[in-house]
Amino acid sequence: MIKMHNGYDVKNNNWWYGVYDKTGNKVFHEGRIKSCIKCHEIAKETDYLFSETIIDKISLDSDF
Ligand code: HEC
Repeated sequence: MIKMHNGYDVKNNNWWYGVYDKTGNKVFHEGRIKSCIKCHEIAKETDYLFSETIIDKISLDSDF
């Protein structure tokens, strides 16, 4: 995922999605990929990023 300029995809917080092979040279899909957006919408509160939600949850739950 790459954050694009405002106006790229305003409705979905201007994220670009890409799927490449392990060499990073062969592209399978890229752009405003609907299936990616549809699921990442669940994390709308943290700007479509899941890891932030998970990191927050871990730090809230831990006793350290
Ligand atoms: C069915 C739900 C679902 C779909 C569809 C999906 N993702 Fe995700 N994605 C997740 C979840 C859940 C995580 C967090 C996983 C973790 O941290 O272990 C994640 C994590 C990511 C991350 C790391 C950043 C973050 O949000 O934590 C990227 C980048 C990413 N996905 C890209 C994509 C791309 C590109 C597509 C489409 C090809 C896609 N995802 C489709 C559920 C989905």
